[in-house]
Amino acid sequence: MPGVTIKSQREIELMRDAGKLLRDVHLRLGEEIAAGISTLEIDRLGEELIRKTGSIPSFLNYEGYPASVCVSINDEVVHGIPKADRIIKDGDIVSLDIGLIHNGFQSDAARTHAVGQVSEEALALMKVTEESFFEGIKYAKAGNHLHDISNAIGYYCIERGYGVVHDLVGHGIGRDMHEAPQIPNFPQKRKGILLCAGMTLAIEPMINIGTGDVIFHDDGWGCTTADGSLSAHYENTILVTDGKPEVLTL
Ligand code: MF3
Ligand code: CO
Repeated sequence: MPGVTIKSQREIELMRDAGKLLRDVHLRLGEEIAAGISTLEIDRLGEELIRKTGSIPSFLNYEGYPASVCVSINDEVVHGIPKADRIIKDGDIVSLDIGLIHNGFQSDAARTHAVGQVSEEALALMKVTEESFFEGIKYAKAGNHLHDISNAIGYYCIERGYGVVHDLVGHGIGRDMHEAPQIPNFPQKRKGILLCAGMTLAIEPMINIGTGDVIFHDDGWGCTTADGSLSAHYENTILVTDGKPEVLTL
């Protein structure tokens, strides 16, 4: 994995372009999520939307991943592989994780959607997951330390009784999808690296109603909550500055 990179003004412009395109793909694809659609149809649509922007789907064939979109339903945490016979139904919560490459620069973002009538507890989980991202990025500022972000996200969720997934983390991003540093979503003992203007980071809380423990499946991708509880995922690519961070995928 490449080290921490500081982007130049020109590179930041390209990261902004990629981020806006990914935001639009998410908005368009989000409108299609409804009971009755298969996860494979979602992937096909997602790939089409990505390619229409002149971008490359970054997940497709990444370490052998067979699709452009990760579609993870209910207790699936991340990396759900799209399938023709996996049909979205009323009451599901569906996370879409999408990445694209535009003019050589990566963007990565995830949203969790509620389909039809969803339980109160599912809606509360989705809300806290999203809020924890915004809590975390309050600390994403030059001069702070990386783990200020981790602590903010982690405590926000733990104090509200949720389980934070430990086995998967956020990451630096740029020409590569996964650059240093790794960005945990749970409280840390050490401070982590010093944040500098020009760093671009994918911050992605993965939060469960039960414990933060997950099970990885034998297919090398599947990842579900160990206790079967619901899981939500919210991710954006951000730019660290001397002031407020810029969220590139919103
Ligand atoms: N967005 C993810 C991440 O941050 C998922 C990439 S896994 C892939 O790592 F295989 F689908 F590419
Ligand atoms: Co990511």
